[in-house]
Amino acid sequence: MKPTEQPAPTVFAIFGGGGDLAWRKLIPALFDLSQDRSLPAQFAIIAIDRVALGDREFKQRLRAGISQFSRFGKVTTAAWNQFAKHLFYQQGDFKKAATYAALAAQCAAFEKGWGAQAQRIFYMATPPSMFGEIPKQLGKAGLAADRQRSRLVIEKPFGYDLDSARALNAALGASFDESQIFRIDHYLGKETVQNILAFRFANPIFEPIWNRSYVDSVTITVAEEVGVEHRGGYYEHAGALRDMVQNHLMQVLCLVAMEPMVSFEADEIRNKKVDVLHAVRPIRPEAVHLCAVRGQYGAGRSGGKRARGYREEEGVAADSQTETFAALRLQIDNWRWQGVPFYLRTGKCLARQTSEVVIQFRAVPHQAFPPDASLGWKPSRLVISIQPDEGIVLGFQAKHPGPEMQLRPVDMRFDYRESFDAPSPDAYETLLWDVMKNDATLFMRADQIEAAWKLLQPVLDVWSANPPSDFPNYAAGSWGPESTQELLETGHHWPVPTPLRTPRVRPARQR
Ligand code: BG6
Repeated sequence: MKPTEQPAPTVFAIFGGGGDLAWRKLIPALFDLSQDRSLPAQFAIIAIDRVALGDREFKQRLRAGISQFSRFGKVTTAAWNQFAKHLFYQQGDFKKAATYAALAAQCAAFEKGWGAQAQRIFYMATPPSMFGEIPKQLGKAGLAADRQRSRLVIEKPFGYDLDSARALNAALGASFDESQIFRIDHYLGKETVQNILAFRFANPIFEPIWNRSYVDSVTITVAEEVGVEHRGGYYEHAGALRDMVQNHLMQVLCLVAMEPMVSFEADEIRNKKVDVLHAVRPIRPEAVHLCAVRGQYGAGRSGGKRARGYREEEGVAADSQTETFAALRLQIDNWRWQGVPFYLRTGKCLARQTSEVVIQFRAVPHQAFPPDASLGWKPSRLVISIQPDEGIVLGFQAKHPGPEMQLRPVDMRFDYRESFDAPSPDAYETLLWDVMKNDATLFMRADQIEAAWKLLQPVLDVWSANPPSDFPNYAAGSWGPESTQELLETGHHWPVPTPLRTPRVRPARQR
C-alpha cells in the first residue's frame, strides 16, 4: 500500500555514496519510493565520496544498481530520467572541513531554488572508522544545529563492544541530539518483524497465553545458507555474536518478549523493548560455557555442491578463531517469562536459509485420550516465519478422520503472499521513509544498543580470553555444532525449520 502523506522537501546526503550499500540498497530503495510517488518533487540525493566520478559515470552505475535491485525490476528510460534529475555527486574527503562547507552551500542552494526550508538527512554509509568524524564535522559546519530538520543515520556495526559503543554514542551526542540520531537495524524494517507487534497486540486472543503459564520455550533462529561471501575481511573482526546477535536477534527477542505498549509513540515502544534487555538475566563469566556455544564452519556440502570452510574464504586467516555460529540460552527475569528459556541461534553456511521464531506451548496438563490415540502427538506451537517464507503457522492437534479417535498434528497457515496482493517493500524502503517522516520507532536508541552490548560483553570477554580449540566444529550445510544440543533443557529440541508451504501430507493409514 502506498503511504498517504509525502515527506517535506528533503536533501538526502549519503556519505559513502559511491559504495556498495548505496548502490545495492539505498539508491534502489529511494527509487522504489519515488515510483510509489512517495517522494516530494523537492528532493535531492547527494552522494559524497572520495573518488573522482563524472556525472555520467556516477549515474550509469546507479542505474545498473536500480535495474538489479529495485522491486520494479529493470528501470525504464522514462522512470530513470525522472529519478536521475534528483541525483548529484560530490567528491570530498570526509576529514576535510571543505567537504562540509560545500555540502552546506549545496543545501542552501537547493533551499533557495525550492523557496522552502528542507530537511537534511545525513546517512553514514561508510566504514565505522568514519562514524565519529562525520558527525563532528557536520556539527562544526553548523549542519547539525536544526534539531527538527537535521538527522543523522548510522549503519551497523554500532561499536565493537560495550566501551566502544558508549564512546560512539558520546561522540554522536556531541553534535546531534538523541532525537536526531537514527541507528539502523535493517531487521526492524522487515514486514514480518514489524508484524510481530501487530500479531501480538492487535489480536486479543494471543496475549492471554503469551506468558510462562502457557509457553514452554521460545526459539529464535536466523540461519543463513551462504558463507561470508566477499566480506571475509570485515567478518574476521566481527564474528556471529557481534554481526547478528547483538543487533538483529536482540531486536527480535525484544519484540517477542516485550510488554504491551500503551501507544504507538516511538519512545513508548522503545522503552518497552529496552525493559526486556534490562530483564534478561546477566550472564556470569563462569556460566558462559553453560549458556553460550560458538562454532565455525568447515568444508561441507551446501545446495548439492561442495562448500569450502570458513578458513578457506577470501580475507580469512588460515587459523582463524572467529565464530561463524553462535547460540545462547537466555532467561528473562520478570513475571511474564520467569522460567521460560529463550534459545537464540544464528550462523553462516547452515543447512537452510531461514529466520523464524518458534513459540513452543506447554503440554496439556492431563492427557485424557487413550495412549495409542495420540501417536505422533506434539504440543501446540506457533511459528513466526520472518524469511524467506513470510507468514505464521499454528500447529495443533486434530482428530484424524475415521471411526477411531486418532490425533494428528496439523497446521493452520497464514502466508503473506496469499493474503495480500502487494509485494513487501524492502526493509530499507521502510526505514528511509521513516527517517524522512522523522519517525524513530524502528530505530535503536542509545540505551538499547548499550543494554544489548552489556548483556553480551561477558560472552565476548570469555570467548576472547579462551580461544576455541575445536574450530572448525561444524560442516557447511549442517545445523551447527553438536554442542548446541547441550544448551537445551530436558525435553527441549531445536526446531527443524519447516517451510511455510509444505507438501500435502498423505493421510495416515487407519488401523
Ligand atoms: C547483516 C550481516 O547485518 O545481516 C550479514 O552483517 C548478514 O552478515 C545479513 O548476512 C543478513 O541479513 P538478511 O536481511 O539477509 O537476513
